[in-house]
Amino acid sequence: MSELNKIVLKIISNGKGILAADESNGTMTKRLEAVNVKSTPENRLSFREILFSSDGMKDCIGGVILYDETINQISSTEKSIPDLISSSGAVPGIKVDTGAKNLANSPEEKITEGLDGLRDRLKKYYDLGARFTKWRGVYSISEKYPSKLAINSNAHALARYSALVQESGMVPIVEPEVLMDGDHSAEVCFKKTSEVIKKCFEELILHKVDLSGIILKPNMILAGNLSKNKVSNEEVSLNTIKCLKESVPNEVPGIAFLSGGQSEIEATENLNLINKNNDTNFIMTYSYGRALQQSALKVWSKNIEDKVTTQNTFNHRAKMCTLAARGKWTSKLESK
Ligand code: G3H
Repeated sequence: MSELNKIVLKIISNGKGILAADESNGTMTKRLEAVNVKSTPENRLSFREILFSSDGMKDCIGGVILYDETINQISSTEKSIPDLISSSGAVPGIKVDTGAKNLANSPEEKITEGLDGLRDRLKKYYDLGARFTKWRGVYSISEKYPSKLAINSNAHALARYSALVQESGMVPIVEPEVLMDGDHSAEVCFKKTSEVIKKCFEELILHKVDLSGIILKPNMILAGNLSKNKVSNEEVSLNTIKCLKESVPNEVPGIAFLSGGQSEIEATENLNLINKNNDTNFIMTYSYGRALQQSALKVWSKNIEDKVTTQNTFNHRAKMCTLAARGKWTSKLESK
């Protein structure tokens, strides 16, 4: 087993999942302002530190994705944030892309940037304690999109990023996110997601990326959020498994889904069904941002001194997601 594969398994084995706490300052400001909390470096750290020092971390969270600001911050107990995360048994990770910008010659679409100077930044993050990284390519669905240009250029960037990350001794999370915004059907989501993921693997293989040392972070196969033809959770799970079976090489050890705007319960229920129906060798778990933090953030915003209730809320969500990653969640457990 390679060192990279060991890191992957440490992060996602035994029902553990990933806490995606890597919102950029811009995104975190939106999240905080939505609950009437001022977005300062202190408040951003305070909420995150409450999550990182909660009991739910030990049993449920195998990895935490950080943003550049957070990985450089010091906790209230004078520990570095990566040390705080490691002390719970989880692996510290870092988002290394620098965001999605308009794609030249297809400006309604996005290309993710951040390759320039990446090798040096990776060294710095490794020295700070990170052992895995994230890069998110983003694709929207419409009649014309995603275009071949967006599919090819984002796959190329994801592959170049992954090769550099493995060279630096860390595990890349490869995240091609096909957005759920729009009125498209689940069939269209299936088709576009398959195309996007297949192209990513074509490039990853071309760039000689060790597939046993990556984690794929895809979207689930959902109908667009404006679609009138909703599909059942059972169908979501079956379509998602089918899509991944057809597009992901067997060497990939694990898949950690993004929540992508699903509610906490929806993201939990869908993951649970995916695991109940999983007839592949892939570990299927979560790498949730909103679907792990939303309720905790609401509770915390009512009283930012109330660490205990915030942690209890987060612990519950993490426990539910971990049960779902084992296919052992039921809706009754939500109220216990
Ligand atoms: O890149 C996306 C985040 O890491 C996951 O966030 O679960 O809220 O979609 P989300």
